[in-house]
Amino acid sequence: LITTGNVGETRNHIAAARASGRSIGFVPTMGALHDGHRGLIGTARAECGFVAVSIFVNPLQFAPGEDYGRYPRALAADVELCRDSGADLIFAPSAAEMYPEEQLTFVEVTKIGDNLCGRFRSGHFRGVATVVLKLFNVVQPDRAYFGEKDLQQLAVIRRMVRDMALPLSVVPVPTIREPDGLAMSSRNRYLSAAERRAAPVVYRALSRACEVARGGERDTKRIQAAGLVVLEREPLAKVQYFEVVDADMQPASQLTEPAYAAAAVFLGSTRLIDNIEL
Ligand code: PAF
Repeated sequence: LITTGNVGETRNHIAAARASGRSIGFVPTMGALHDGHRGLIGTARAECGFVAVSIFVNPLQFAPGEDYGRYPRALAADVELCRDSGADLIFAPSAAEMYPEEQLTFVEVTKIGDNLCGRFRSGHFRGVATVVLKLFNVVQPDRAYFGEKDLQQLAVIRRMVRDMALPLSVVPVPTIREPDGLAMSSRNRYLSAAERRAAPVVYRALSRACEVARGGERDTKRIQAAGLVVLEREPLAKVQYFEVVDADMQPASQLTEPAYAAAAVFLGSTRLIDNIEL
């Protein structure tokens, strides 16, 4: 397992792997790796000859007042998880390596990035799309792996790849959950014991919405209301949004194909997101 923080070295290793006929799989992460990431790396391992993982807490995607400074950093444990999962290379650059001068160029995926989290996290998806394009240009993967837990991020990246004719495939990987339904997330480690006990309410609410939709309800307001009832019974949960959206992350009054229920919920000061396909 190669570990480097250097762009040039990463390019050299990737070029050598490609020259030996191997396809390049890429898993971009912000570290604090968990079983969800293990799923991403494992899928890449099964499908590609060479697997690169990036670990970079990207300042561009955090709005002022968000958790950039306290985002969990756990490089030693992350290296072990990558080794275990069969990764070939870790690219873990410093902020100075990624942004040696003021970044003046940005990627903005309008419409898809505007609703849901985009309404509450100003500049977030611009920061994500910009760093992901930059990471793609360093790693030049054939296939890049993203978790379905971050539904809107996945939609933003897929659209960026199509709109900009990037020569790679985006591969979605299903959300990994704790036994009680809580979606795996690096931010789960912020939760107090009481918040952790309450946190599965998010998935219960999404599942309820799904049940109502599968039962034949087409009116998205009613589907949304059914989910919200579940969340409102949990005193520790404060809903930021609970919405039914189409593939472009837009609200629709009638159920579309596909459609998703997507939620952002605070437990104390920790903001959790999750979604379900209806
Ligand atoms: O999902 C994440 O961990 C990040 O948003 C990503 C895709 C690595 C970009 O910083």
